[in-house]
Amino acid sequence: MNRRQRRIIRSSVCGILVMCIFLNFNIDFLNIDIHTNGAFKRMQILQSAESPNISITTNRMHYQNPLFSKQICSGIGLRTVGKTKVNRLLNFHKTDPFRFFKNYKNPCFYRNVTYLGGKELKKPTLTIRCLPYFFIIGMPKSGTTDVWHGLEQHPGVAIRHGKEPMYFTRRRYPRANWSLDQYLDHFDAATDIIKSTPSPDKWTDDDLYYFLITGEGTVDVSHDNDRWQEIPGNEDCNEPRMLNAHYLYHLNPNMRLIFMMRDPVNRVYSDYLYESQFFGYNKTVEDFHLAVLESITQHMLCRKHFSERGCAYNSSLESFKARLRVGMYYVFLEDWYRVFPKEQVMVIKFEEYMRNRIEYLKEVFKFLKLRPISVSEEQKQRKRSISNTRSKEDRHIGDMSKKTRILLQEFYHPFNKRLSILLNDNKYMWGS
Ligand SMILES: *[C@@H]1O[C@H](CO)[C@@H](O)[C@H](O)[C@H]1NC(C)=O
Ligand SMILES: *[C@@H]1O[C@H](CO)[C@@H](O)[C@H](O)[C@H]1NC(C)=O
Ligand SMILES: *[C@@H]1O[C@H](CO)[C@@H](O)[C@H](O)[C@H]1NC(C)=O
Ligand SMILES: *[C@@H]1O[C@H](CO)[C@@H](O)[C@H](O)[C@H]1NC(C)=O
Ligand SMILES: *[C@@H]1O[C@H](CO)[C@@H](O)[C@H](O)[C@H]1NC(C)=O
Repeated sequence: MNRRQRRIIRSSVCGILVMCIFLNFNIDFLNIDIHTNGAFKRMQILQSAESPNISITTNRMHYQNPLFSKQICSGIGLRTVGKTKVNRLLNFHKTDPFRFFKNYKNPCFYRNVTYLGGKELKKPTLTIRCLPYFFIIGMPKSGTTDVWHGLEQHPGVAIRHGKEPMYFTRRRYPRANWSLDQYLDHFDAATDIIKSTPSPDKWTDDDLYYFLITGEGTVDVSHDNDRWQEIPGNEDCNEPRMLNAHYLYHLNPNMRLIFMMRDPVNRVYSDYLYESQFFGYNKTVEDFHLAVLESITQHMLCRKHFSERGCAYNSSLESFKARLRVGMYYVFLEDWYRVFPKEQVMVIKFEEYMRNRIEYLKEVFKFLKLRPISVSEEQKQRKRSISNTRSKEDRHIGDMSKKTRILLQEFYHPFNKRLSILLNDNKYMWGS
């Protein structure tokens, strides 16, 4: 055990003494090894594996990459998915690849839908549907809403809907039962615009070309796979094999993904300040400290029995006050890279974005194959106020306390290190 490890354990033990009062814990803390090198080695093997090959046989998705399935879905079984549940899955699976129109930049296609214009239909109706061309997959509190508004302003983008439909995270099986048609209907207004705005340049002698694109930005999609055990393909696993990434890839393998990350220490605090509006707690630095201690303790307890990755996907370990696992960027990004080619994932560091929003937005436009913006469009972008900055009231609370910051830095250090290796760039250490 090196000095760094010892420090985190010491501060957490103090925390546990405090928390014992609330949680009634009695644990053997020093046996927990948060730096399991075995897990890290395993990840490196996986990194070189081919990107997985998904296909549908009968009503399930299967991996055809044996290395992937052997390595990730390890350990004893948890529970088996019932047959009725598997059948309900058909609701949100397409059974054949969609045939996207060749003369559309955005993935659009004909589909017989049973849900249209906010209503359930009595009989299937053939209509044009569009999927997102781009998806801002993460992370919460990392500048994604600002990029979203920047995209909204680009003349090549059709957005007439909310940023976060939350279909893949919360509204589909097993957490709810939106059908795929219901999800596609979220893009109904954008679809109308896309299909009625041809480019002046023709595609062929006869065909027009439709150049507008649309997208979404449910940022929790990066990590929130809660109740993954109930997803077919994850039976008898103690780590998920099938993730949101696989569903997105299955729907549109060419989807372009934007992944923004912020110093995880500041991110979790920003999250704490932000979430209080939904959960109605009184924000104080001491309350935050306790929430952090509780989350770290829960995470370490989990690590006694599960791998780092298994715990990163375990939502029961933390409260909304300190969503610690969200900052374990390495684990999630690695999983996205297993499914999507790296060229389709744009990674942005929040701190750099905030220093130079317009230049970064231009890079985003380029990544999405949008035309460069004009001088007047650029001025309009510059005038736009920054989205989701800290409120006056929150500024009053000030920064987290120093002890909390040190604790979090220690906790995130190994994750940042692996992220830096993955992205081959030390700037993702965030000074930790
Ligand atoms: C997926 O695997 C099948 C069967 O092994 C193969 O025929 C197919 O070409 C593969 N597809 C891709 C995209 O690699
Ligand atoms: C839609 O349904 C009709 C009638 O069932 C069928 O003839 C047609 O092929 C379907 N079209 C698509 C694109 O599935
Ligand atoms: C799923 O749909 C059924 C019937 O359509 C409804 O009764 C049920 O409440 C829904 N469940 C959830 C979790 O939304
Ligand atoms: C928050 O603080 C106010 C005023 O001090 C108090 O009345 C209220 O009960 C507190 N709420 C919670 C959830 O602790
Ligand atoms: C999540 O962690 C808790 C506590 O360690 C454990 O009891 C539970 O089985 C874990 N769940 C999963 C799905 O790994």
